[in-house]
Amino acid sequence: MIRLHVHPDKATAVRAVAADIAALVRARAAEGRRAVLGLATGSTPIPLYAELVRLHREEGLSFRGVTTFNLDEYSGLGPDHDQSYRWFMQRQLFDHVDVVPAETHVPDGLAKDVAGSAAAYEDAIRAAGGIDLQVLGIGRTGHIGFNEPPAGPATRTRQVHLDELTRRDNASFFGDVAKVPHHAVTMGVGTILDCRRVVLLAWGEGKADIVRRSVEDAPSDDCPASWLQRHAACDFVLDAPAAAKLARR
Ligand code: PGA
Repeated sequence: MIRLHVHPDKATAVRAVAADIAALVRARAAEGRRAVLGLATGSTPIPLYAELVRLHREEGLSFRGVTTFNLDEYSGLGPDHDQSYRWFMQRQLFDHVDVVPAETHVPDGLAKDVAGSAAAYEDAIRAAGGIDLQVLGIGRTGHIGFNEPPAGPATRTRQVHLDELTRRDNASFFGDVAKVPHHAVTMGVGTILDCRRVVLLAWGEGKADIVRRSVEDAPSDDCPASWLQRHAACDFVLDAPAAAKLARR
């Protein structure tokens, strides 16, 4: 079931999500257990990470007891490449909080044994006790992680081919669409559905059509995000423009 949360703007929305994550982290710490967070990259979660850094600096939120798993990584980009998602996570969040480096996981974009590395990623998530809360963005193709259509609930961590729309949407980060990799390693839709909670963020009118399809159309591999309707605890956190095409809000 998808629960909708529509905020007037993304600043208000990210404050609510960051407070939710902080409550989870503090509750797990009080129980003496690690909190396991699933993290996303792209432009959407940047203000969320800024708010988490602020909570760390100003309100004493500690990430020492947090384990993280990122959704995806570009194939062929190493951690020192400034467009790799490992690099992104270091700059946006990890370098600014007290997370234990060995407790942060991003799929290996350089693995020689791609299938073995993907299976090891699934094993590591399982060994950590599963993901408590997974943050997601959504691509205009309906992708979550880099699960381009068609992709359904049976998919697990694996290498995928990126949709041309996704490559164009990410070209601004690389300066030139020709530099955007053609492949990535991503958690599967099934991996995401296994997370105990899922929080999908979407901002702006450019996401309004795909948000509507994900929420209102029957689940289909043609819109991988629509499978989130089958999740027991999925929140879509939207600003008003991203929610504008929904029949119910
Ligand atoms: P964006 O990408 O946050 O840059 O819009 C979202 C996604 O592709 O999942």
